[in-house]
Amino acid sequence: MKSKIAIVISALFVALTMTACGSSEPADAPSVADSDKSIVQEKLNKKQTKTQASEVEEPAETEAPEADEAAPETTPAETEAAQPETDDTGTNILVAYFSRADENYNVGTIEKGNTQVVAEYIADEVGADSFHIETVTPYPTGYDECCDVAKEEQENGARPGISGSVDNMEQYDIVFLGYPIWWGDLPMAVYTFMESYDWSDKVVIPFCTHEGSGLSGTDSSIASVTGAQVLTAIDMRGSTAQELNDDTKQAVRTWLEDLGF
Ligand SMILES: Cc1cc2nc3c(=O)[nH]c(=O)nc-3n(C[C@H](O)[C@H](O)[C@H](O)COP(=O)(O)O)c2cc1C
Repeated sequence: MKSKIAIVISALFVALTMTACGSSEPADAPSVADSDKSIVQEKLNKKQTKTQASEVEEPAETEAPEADEAAPETTPAETEAAQPETDDTGTNILVAYFSRADENYNVGTIEKGNTQVVAEYIADEVGADSFHIETVTPYPTGYDECCDVAKEEQENGARPGISGSVDNMEQYDIVFLGYPIWWGDLPMAVYTFMESYDWSDKVVIPFCTHEGSGLSGTDSSIASVTGAQVLTAIDMRGSTAQELNDDTKQAVRTWLEDLGF
């Protein structure tokens, strides 16, 4: 049954990519529910409240002791203990994305993956930290070879190892999660990533690139794997993202504005 589904998805992908050839249609901003905006606002306010609280906790300025007064001695350990445990001055927004450069459909050989182009743009717009989800074993540079490896991983339910990890994941209340569609699904490495963290109280905002399949229900998969609140995603053709013309940038900006950023 599983392999039948894979065959159907494969056939669909081939059909979709054939029709996608040479097209680079402008990306559309999705329509965002008002409830998404209030959820984002609540998370952004959470950050503000944390920052204000840490400002209040700052020790009051004291007069410098006179030269003959003995200054209280503090050890480096004591000084460190006085610092807040988490860096509340940092952002509470993370852009985590999987993206592969090299040879890909409809774009030839590229230096920066299509999804990475969108990820960098989002991070710039909202002032987020970024994490590139990269597998320990890189995927083949050739498109066909990569398709074969990805298909095998999907059929086996593989969880490829990821290099590095997000420092201080607890700091982030909003996570933009970006990926290409691979065989009608998320790349398996994105499952490894999602299963590596605790998503309680986080909001996930997906974005994806593809060549005709659209989101393919990946937003629902993200919700069921992470258990997080998942807001309205944006998806666009990878070839369009690679060019990232003004229309595409505008679509991303409109989506972000509608979400309340
Ligand atoms: C292994 C593989 C599988 C793919 N499967 C699909 C698919 O099922 N549907 C689709 O529309 N595009 C598919 N694509 C095209 C990619 O989704 C598209 O090129 C995307 O923009 C690549 O993003 P990246 O450069 O960030 O990796 C596939 C590409 C690869 C390499």
